[in-house]
Amino acid sequence: MSVTMSNSRFRASSQPRGELPGLTQRIARHLEQYGKGHSVQGRQPEPGCVVLSSNDYLSLAADPRIVAAQVASLISKSTEVLMSAVFLGEASSQRRFERELAQFLGADDAVLTQSGYAANDGLLQVLADAITPIYVDIFAHASIWQGAQSAGVKARPFRHNEVDHLAGLIAQHGPGIVAVDAVYSTSGDIAPLAELASLCEATGCILLVDESHSIGVFGAHGEGLVAALGLTDKVAYRTFSLSKAFVGRAGAILGSARVLDFLRYQSRPAIFSSAVLEHDIARFQATLDVIRGADDRRFLLQANARRLREGLAELGYDVSVSETQIVPLVAGPEPRTVALRQALEQRGVIGAVFCTPATPKNKSLVRLSVTSGTTDEELDRVLAVCAEIRDQVRPEEWPTARRAARRAASATPQHSPALA
Ligand SMILES: Cc1ncc(COP(=O)(O)O)c(C=O)c1O
Repeated sequence: MSVTMSNSRFRASSQPRGELPGLTQRIARHLEQYGKGHSVQGRQPEPGCVVLSSNDYLSLAADPRIVAAQVASLISKSTEVLMSAVFLGEASSQRRFERELAQFLGADDAVLTQSGYAANDGLLQVLADAITPIYVDIFAHASIWQGAQSAGVKARPFRHNEVDHLAGLIAQHGPGIVAVDAVYSTSGDIAPLAELASLCEATGCILLVDESHSIGVFGAHGEGLVAALGLTDKVAYRTFSLSKAFVGRAGAILGSARVLDFLRYQSRPAIFSSAVLEHDIARFQATLDVIRGADDRRFLLQANARRLREGLAELGYDVSVSETQIVPLVAGPEPRTVALRQALEQRGVIGAVFCTPATPKNKSLVRLSVTSGTTDEELDRVLAVCAEIRDQVRPEEWPTARRAARRAASATPQHSPALA
């Protein structure tokens, strides 16, 4: 039924159902750019492909010890309620796991959240009020920016890994919260955590480190970079997603028990979204046990990552930004990145495209991430494919190659922390 009103504001139009005009325009712009397929959507992995797009860094997804623990919990007669975590008691499996996680990571206490996104969002919402300066590395994860927004704060960005720039901002705007990723999820480089911790200590700032890509991966038992670098006492809060090395759906916040007790009843995701499921906690518990003893896997992971980085560098791909298992091929403008992705996929190598809003415009990339289970044959194949497509994809013209040339000209030493 069409409605006719004299006021043209209310005239029924050919507006698509469920859309106001602003949304229609935004969808039109999206379709103009991605109508033929979004850049991130490529070939789905099939048997025989080399899949370098997984965050299952220690190859634990199908580990029989972990799967068995989850199944046993699923078929057991649970007495735990399915509700928001505010209703959980101290004896709940979530609280037990949180205490064990805190102990493992050398933290005062821990809170399990529904995702890594909810961890950063909920934590910053509680830590800050509208006048708290929040300083965020420009490449920090979107959930950190969201957390500042949830606190009603416009985050103050500082240049990527540039501690001097951050120091200048703190001198200007006063002490507040400094938020960084330990390992950056698109570039695979590492935050200068020791320098950041010293600066925060000297200026009265609170340091928050997102360890999503370093928990399980670094440290003698997989405790992450903060612990591996001996900074546990200097980093007030750590967060991480359990969707990487823990291969599940949850997040965690580590920090002061006093603040976290407050957070359990104040953070909006903690109050208004249901708690992590019991069988997932059983899975995480078993995964934690495996991660603690997974030195062999950590060793393989580091060796695989090194081999990929060095092999690519020998072929003329500048991946020197990466210090970890995340190795980006930064082709730059999206059409170039899509062409690169297709060239790799046609030869059975599956990476993941990251483009705006996950990267700056014209710095889009194909992210290759190795796991401990990536085999030598697979790495040989990836490197052979990269050799084969080199003349087609022209890595010497990518932004990373230009940056490397500038760096070589100014001969600035690269940050390179001691890793366990
Ligand atoms: C650094 C970082 N923080 C937070 C998140 C969000 O984690 P989740 O996927 O559990 O919401 C991610 C992953 O996507 C991430 O890479």
